[in-house]
Amino acid sequence: MNLLRRIGRPRAAPTLASLDAYALWAAQYPPTAHNPLMAVEGQAISELLPNVSGAEAVDLAAGTGRFGLLLRERGARRVIALDNSPHMLAGSPLPFRVLSTMEAIPLASESVDILICGMAVGHLPRLGAVFAEIGRVLKAGGTALVSDFHPILHFTGARRTFNARGKTYAVEHYPHLYGDFHAAASAVRLRIDAVREPSLPGHAAGAPVALVLRLIAVK
Ligand SMILES: C[S@@+](CC[C@H](N)C(=O)[O-])C[C@H]1O[C@@H](n2cnc3c(N)ncnc32)[C@H](O)[C@@H]1O
Repeated sequence: MNLLRRIGRPRAAPTLASLDAYALWAAQYPPTAHNPLMAVEGQAISELLPNVSGAEAVDLAAGTGRFGLLLRERGARRVIALDNSPHMLAGSPLPFRVLSTMEAIPLASESVDILICGMAVGHLPRLGAVFAEIGRVLKAGGTALVSDFHPILHFTGARRTFNARGKTYAVEHYPHLYGDFHAAASAVRLRIDAVREPSLPGHAAGAPVALVLRLIAVK
């Protein structure tokens, strides 16, 4: 797969902090799955998504709004897209956009029915603060879907890279194991309800490329 050749190779690519990386990447970051990893990860999110008709929804670390658009398409009443990159938010077609870190969500406690956080928690060294915030804003019984670059990919040398201005860059990434997710969720009464580890057809004997969790808020 082209993507994995690309992410498996560039150990030499300079690594940028997330804010710097997305400032450069945003102009070529459409609100759709634009590589094979995002395609299989997005399919897993779509399959795990409950009925969101009439729901108050959040696309956390929304980027240009890929999952906010999915939530809107599935009938959510209102979708709030939150990201800490003004460049990524500027590329989003979603009307309710909030510039904020996912570690301090500027929303009321127990106000959200469904939250998706796609491919973003790996930019944080630790999961505790973002999971505490997800647990705080979800209503009792609410659902969160969280995906990440699979730790197996990281530990086998793959990196998250992009091209801009004729150069290849890597984005800062911190691998999180399933046990890390389980500990962060249990600490704030989020129950892991379903797990998917999609792989890419023909790649590395079925080794997973993404970790996708569905969590339920137990209050
Ligand atoms: C790989 S992109 C994913 C975007 C979108 N969720 C998707 O799946 O298409 C990661 C996003 O996380 C955002 N991000 C990184 N660290 C963040 C933080 N601490 N708070 C909020 N957003 C953050 C980046 O700006 C970027 O838009």
